Amino acid sequence: MIFEPLSAGGCKSYLVGCADTCAAALIDPEIGLIDRYLGLAGQHGLRIHYLIDTHTHADHFSATRKLSRQLGAPVAMHRLSPAPFVDLRLDDGDMLLIGKLRLQVLHTPGHTRDSMCLRLADRICTGDTLLIGATGRTDLPSGDPEALHDSLFNHLLRQDPALLVFPAHDYKGRTHSTIGEEIASNPRLQVREALQFCEMMRNLNLGMPAHLTEALRSNMNGAKTVAQMLAEAAAAVPFMSLPELLRRVQSRAEELIVLDVRERDAYEEGHVPGAKLLPRGQLELRVNQDLPDPTGRIVVCCEFGRISTLATATLRELGFARAVALDGGMKAWREAGYPLRAGREP
Ligand SMILES: [Fe+2]
Repeated sequence: MIFEPLSAGGCKSYLVGCADTCAAALIDPEIGLIDRYLGLAGQHGLRIHYLIDTHTHADHFSATRKLSRQLGAPVAMHRLSPAPFVDLRLDDGDMLLIGKLRLQVLHTPGHTRDSMCLRLADRICTGDTLLIGATGRTDLPSGDPEALHDSLFNHLLRQDPALLVFPAHDYKGRTHSTIGEEIASNPRLQVREALQFCEMMRNLNLGMPAHLTEALRSNMNGAKTVAQMLAEAAAAVPFMSLPELLRRVQSRAEELIVLDVRERDAYEEGHVPGAKLLPRGQLELRVNQDLPDPTGRIVVCCEFGRISTLATATLRELGFARAVALDGGMKAWREAGYPLRAGREP
């Protein structure tokens, strides 16, 4: 068995492969690590057949959907997952074949309704149901302390004590433990009585994860994240550097439209001399009237260089094939001490 744990900011994902057949599955992949997963699979000569989320994540952006499109492999989750893009809905006791490996599903609701643990030979990926020295929290959407107590004490902890535990999170750099070690020393598992356990889980008072709403929108509905939209736009447009724009504005060697897509008040406080104002919110509506020449060279700028990247992608889709985005924004332009003009253009 090939078993490669990957970790980013405490979130763990696992590439699991069968060395004999080159078949593999990816468990809890994260959007920021896509190139690493593909690189690692390539390095081992593996082909990924399943993209599995142990549950609906609220704290990071799942890469299952994107990788599924890229690889033509199904997204697998528990059948209670709210995500409409799940191709393979699993139930307790189901098994997936990964070449000669057998991956066994245990439904362990509690952290979320759709939580499952995945057993593979001598080990089990416990998702957020059981962590090293802790358990998943039960205060996020669809969490349920009673269900977690039942999943742990009546199911997961009854597995072989020697089974290796690989959780979906660890913030202290630990790689794994065993069911036996957790039963013996995990502080939360010492509270065995259901009412007390639930009382403890209800009073953890944990902070909300960053990007909670956006992560749920993305993981439950397949919505794009803002970061994804920006990354896609950035991959679809060329850029111009600040010094290059300065040189071109000063030399006036060619007809160049500097399009400022900020709001009017920001524009009037200071813009690139000669820049034209067309706020992003009005771009599609006013583009024909304000930019009559689709063959013209256009450099789009905003305050930080993000909105302008999205606006440039939109302009290119609308047929302005020579639109480019400023690499950086007006903030960087001001900080560089480059020339500004206040008020309206004459
Ligand atoms: Fe989670």
